Amino acid sequence: MSKVTVIGAGNVGATCANVLAHKNIVKEVVLLDIVGNLAKGKALDSWQQASIDYYSTHLVGTDDYSLTANSDIVVITAGIPRKPGMSRDDLISTNARIVKSVTESIMKYSSNPIIIVVSNPLDVMSLACWRASGLPSQRVLGMAGILDTARFRVFLAEAIGVSPKDIQAILMGGHGDTMVPLPRYTTVAGIPVTELIDAEKLEQIVDRTAKGGGELVQLMGTSAWYAPGAAAAQMVETIVHDEKRIFPCCVKLDGQYGLSDIFLGVPVKLGRNGVEEIIELQLNERETADLQKSAAAVSSVIDVFNKMNL
Ligand code: NAI
Ligand code: 2OP
Repeated sequence: MSKVTVIGAGNVGATCANVLAHKNIVKEVVLLDIVGNLAKGKALDSWQQASIDYYSTHLVGTDDYSLTANSDIVVITAGIPRKPGMSRDDLISTNARIVKSVTESIMKYSSNPIIIVVSNPLDVMSLACWRASGLPSQRVLGMAGILDTARFRVFLAEAIGVSPKDIQAILMGGHGDTMVPLPRYTTVAGIPVTELIDAEKLEQIVDRTAKGGGELVQLMGTSAWYAPGAAAAQMVETIVHDEKRIFPCCVKLDGQYGLSDIFLGVPVKLGRNGVEEIIELQLNERETADLQKSAAAVSSVIDVFNKMNL
């Protein structure tokens, strides 16, 4: 049984730790926050829930990295979330420093973890984490695509009048308004979605998905946490169980899709070694152009990050 550390005991981190405990698949979850008592309190609260919901995963809260020693998987959610009017990219100056220092602290105590990054701006924070970690790129990946496809799937489910469970979808690109949902690769119980919904409605749903994070920020004054926390926990589960599931994840590209030196969302096979395969779809002209546009948007934030000289 594995040991998982979740860094950041805020909305997303605490949710991820709690969902993971409910899955009852790992021995221990360490919840670490710079605000130690917050982590201690949320971990204790979650651990006390074990008697009610019947799980054995032990949760520990701390601000002490030595307790994270020998973690198999680390989820990084530390950083500030966006407020109304902010884009994910506005977070870079604060979160890049946090992600770098958090990664260095993790690596002092765990020699070969798999790290799942959640902090925004996601694609660039995944790159920042990978650079600071010294790990092979297969062991550092970002969570965004599972969340973004989850949004796409529920919007489609509502429009068609079916269960989100039956909707399979893939989505690529950066975790921002330029993300690229792919209706051509979206099915409802195996039926191409285009046979069940008209083109105009589908286009509206694609647009709502791309702006899905912003919709929640407008409603709540901060960003989402239930679906993001559960999405990160699903990635942990897939790795722990070596399931070889295929999910859109943010990973380092080395020539795939004609792109290099960038972390970007693409379909990957996840297993106990982390990113075990990057799947290259045969995109059509429009999809390729949309992906290139999204990559260019991420590259411009990488330029800002590089100029920070961290
Ligand atoms: P939050 O403000 O509720 O929690 C963040 C936590 O990080 C706070 O408890 C804070 O004390 C902690 N923290 C800050 N600096 C730290 C450090 N150096 N070491 C340890 N802990 C530190 O924010 P929330 O809502 O949990 O979001 C966290 C991050 O995740 C944000 O950057 C947000 O934009 C991002 N996010 C990404 C999503 C994705 O799809 N990739 C989805 C939702 C949120
Ligand atoms: C989201 O998409 C803010 O990235 C976060 O909800």
